[in-house]
Amino acid sequence: MADTSQRSFRIFRFNPETDDKPYYQTYEIEVESWWTVLDALNEIKWFVDGTLSYRRSCRHGICGSCAMMINGLNDLACEKQIKLIRRNPITIDPLPGFEIHKDLAVDMDPFYKALKRVKPWLINNDPPPSRERIQSPEQFHLIGDGIACILCAACTSSCPSYWSDEEYLGPAALLKAYRYSFDSRDQGLGDRIDALDNRHGLWRCHKITNCFHACPKNLNPTEAISRLQRRVIEEKT
Ligand code: SF4
Ligand code: F3S
Ligand code: FES
Repeated sequence: MADTSQRSFRIFRFNPETDDKPYYQTYEIEVESWWTVLDALNEIKWFVDGTLSYRRSCRHGICGSCAMMINGLNDLACEKQIKLIRRNPITIDPLPGFEIHKDLAVDMDPFYKALKRVKPWLINNDPPPSRERIQSPEQFHLIGDGIACILCAACTSSCPSYWSDEEYLGPAALLKAYRYSFDSRDQGLGDRIDALDNRHGLWRCHKITNCFHACPKNLNPTEAISRLQRRVIEEKT
């Protein structure tokens, strides 16, 4: 027999085209013991209320599309086990700091635009070698955190500096800037420096560390930002 329990989900609802203001809607459903919050949202969407909107794709913590606020903390819905959440109802909000498209789906354009500003790709104008550009394990280790980032935006969305300055690059973009600028095969810091070295870039980070605590992949954007700040200062002196 399936191991199930009754749980309540209090979900933020807002359709800017038809609603005057946001509201919460509560759904009572039966959940199986192995379900994640995303499984519950799918159950609601597919069998209870098809008007609910949210993003998801991989269901395996890889694509980064299901980031949302669960009981006040940013997290990935597809990784959050319901049986580990004691509080009932479970309150689900969209990622803060972004405009609401509908319900839990937010406008990610500013996030991707900030990312593009730091040129998140390898820049190397040397002629390509006959095989790959070699990197030692130690050199790879230096950029490991940035590579593991799935661009879910949980960090940027939790950053008070980002809430107060929509032009701020934010921790996710800065982590990517770190990942490429500290890559032994990259020569692009000079190309990124205009985006980084200003009051909407590296210097807007006040080391609040919400980003570090919000990251569902246990990455440390705060440390990456500090290293990049030191590197930019060295570059200028
Ligand atoms: Fe998400 Fe963490 Fe990457 Fe930020 S650093 S975008 S929270 S995976
Ligand atoms: Fe924001 Fe993280 Fe810096 S929360 S202020 S980017 S340490
Ligand atoms: Fe892809 Fe959750 S659905 S990370």
